[in-house]
Amino acid sequence: MNDQVADFRAEKTNLTELAGLGKGPVSLEPYRSQEWFEKEVEQVFKRAWLCLGREERIGNPGDYFVQTIEVAKAEILVTRTREGVRAFHNVCSHRSNKVVLDRGGNASRFVCRYHNWTYKNDGALIGVPDEKNFFDFDKKRCGLTKVACETWEGWIFINLQPVPEVSLTEFLGDFGQIYTGIPYPHSDKSILFVSHLKANWKVIADAFAETYHIPAIHPETIGSTFASNENPFARPISAQTWGPHRSVSTYGNPEYVPPIGSQVERLFYSNIATGNVLSAASLEDTEVFLKHPAINPTKSGSWAVDVTWLFPHFQFDVSPGGFWTHHFWPVSVNETRWEARFHIPDAPDVWSRLQQEHYIARLGEILLEDVGNTERTQEGINSGAKEHMVLQDGEVMIRHSLHQLEKWVHAETVREALA
Ligand code: FES
Ligand SMILES: [Fe+2]
Repeated sequence: MNDQVADFRAEKTNLTELAGLGKGPVSLEPYRSQEWFEKEVEQVFKRAWLCLGREERIGNPGDYFVQTIEVAKAEILVTRTREGVRAFHNVCSHRSNKVVLDRGGNASRFVCRYHNWTYKNDGALIGVPDEKNFFDFDKKRCGLTKVACETWEGWIFINLQPVPEVSLTEFLGDFGQIYTGIPYPHSDKSILFVSHLKANWKVIADAFAETYHIPAIHPETIGSTFASNENPFARPISAQTWGPHRSVSTYGNPEYVPPIGSQVERLFYSNIATGNVLSAASLEDTEVFLKHPAINPTKSGSWAVDVTWLFPHFQFDVSPGGFWTHHFWPVSVNETRWEARFHIPDAPDVWSRLQQEHYIARLGEILLEDVGNTERTQEGINSGAKEHMVLQDGEVMIRHSLHQLEKWVHAETVREALA
């Protein structure tokens, strides 16, 4: 692990150097090249363990959801059996129709709508109409096709290799040792924002990888919570990398109070008391989670959010107000399906409900500000006007991501990519 602590008050921070990364301009080809995109699909998305989110989403036996993975031309059915979480290709063993047609629910068995073949939620084929008329037929060999699936600390992962080259534990490495025992509050409850954007998945991911943009894009919403007079450019307070995974702790203005005119925010702020408007849970809810050594690792008093990346395309964010996640699913070289999931509790009373509505409306505003530039950026990249982009120290997570992707694209084996 590289411990990277930045002094945001210094003339310059030194996160890039501490992460052992170069400082030169960075090629834009990975954001526009079809050839590179195909390599990313084959070498990264089809070889890495991919986090699909919290297992509480399917908390009861029989719960399931379907996850589309466009670049693999796959739909993955994730189910909770009595033995644990399992994943399958959503493809019938008869003539390959899709078995499950909705996006999620609860079922002990799945019936293919074409000829009524029936599967248990553990993938076993249990019913075939007119079975006697098949030839040398063995139901046991015709279950749903399994996809490697494991859970770690309540996070569900799948791997699209028929036999994964490395275990999930090996893939997570030191990161997996450090991020244990974190209680993620309200994991079973979430609101989901989904958006289809005409930009490479990394353009969208990069919009959530740095805080340098905050004073420029978010002056009205979070400009004075994530930046301040002492940190006017919202420099990060620390960063860590573990192999392909990474985390950055972002600055929060401890002096922040809502301006006099912001009556609604002032009303809700009186209870939230975190100095952070990105908040739906109460402080008591998140107390244990704040004490965890991996969270805000420098225990800075000027802390807002830890932005933590599980390679390649998944981010979870923890803050005093709770946690949320981002999936940046590539669709094509310049299309992305972006899924943001915010975990919030059930509102016990009308006041909390109002507070949450305010939070959700505020989130919507901030997220729109975030993705507002992305399609324009992609058009600029596609124009070919520039060969490279220049990154500053606060954009270290973008540099680390590209560095790791390049490693994976060129590595013959996953173990070599992780070395
Ligand atoms: S394709 Fe599913 S039962 Fe025939
Ligand atoms: Fe932002």
